[in-house]
Amino acid sequence: MTDQHKYRLKTGKAAEQQLDNLDKLFGKESRKFLSGVGLKEGGQVADVGCGIGNLSCWLAEQIGSRGHVYAIDNSIKQLEIAKQRANQRGIKNISFHEMDVHDLSEFNEHFDLTYCRWLLVHVKDPLLAVKSMAKTVRPKGILACEAGDMRTNDCYPKFPAHTQFFEKSNELLRQTDCDVNISFKIFGIFKSLKEFSDVKIKLSQPLISARDEIKVFGQQMCVLLDSISESLIEKNIMSQNEIEKLKTEILDHPIEENTLIFLARMTQIWCRKSA
Ligand SMILES: C[S@@+](CC[C@H](N)C(=O)[O-])C[C@H]1O[C@@H](n2cnc3c(N)ncnc32)[C@H](O)[C@@H]1O
Repeated sequence: MTDQHKYRLKTGKAAEQQLDNLDKLFGKESRKFLSGVGLKEGGQVADVGCGIGNLSCWLAEQIGSRGHVYAIDNSIKQLEIAKQRANQRGIKNISFHEMDVHDLSEFNEHFDLTYCRWLLVHVKDPLLAVKSMAKTVRPKGILACEAGDMRTNDCYPKFPAHTQFFEKSNELLRQTDCDVNISFKIFGIFKSLKEFSDVKIKLSQPLISARDEIKVFGQQMCVLLDSISESLIEKNIMSQNEIEKLKTEILDHPIEENTLIFLARMTQIWCRKSA
């Protein structure tokens, strides 16, 4: 893997708050989406790029004890936390697999549903990654993805620290090989999958206005800054002092009444494999 393609966010213990916040902010929409694509009681489900397993555990509960979730990630640190959390919750119908999305051949035609969230923007070859996931789907099974576009975050009224956070993090995305257009390209990629038909696509953009959710969002910006700080410094986008100053500005900013935060717009896409 080249340096350009390394996963730039923290993993393991250090990723817990970031991925928990992510799930607090996007989880409701993801669960609605997954319920809509059809979760079968007793189904075999793959959550690829599962992180610390927030959605994997939920999926395991939805499909019941006769079903099974395969939580897949290429980071052993993420998987260790995911496993601990599933054990703490007494979830038994889940297993953990250290694998790269670009090669899932061990699981050919294995799943009724293969799914990923916030994975494709981080991978080396999104087309290959989707093709690789597609191969793991059984006949009549479903392939589903949620791919976000960080450039669509917005807020009203505007505040400079928010604008600066997104300018700097998007600059980092541009300077690495992340495919920032993946949430658009995913439609063509899904349509090109030979054994699949009936591609359905929609958008979801969570909008938050409640004070406690806006606070979670502020925390999330700071946690993300910590997570990408090494890369920001290495690429001369920000210095450590500027990062610390920006975090203070984000946390100290008074939340005005009637503030609206538009989170990243998510493309939600799914299709079915032929019989
Ligand atoms: C932003 S996190 C999203 C985690 C989870 N899907 C969620 O929504 O909470 C992306 C995850 O993808 C994993 N990942 C990155 N590149 C990968 C690859 N090539 N193969 C498998 N997993 C990968 C990372 O380790 C990380 O856990």
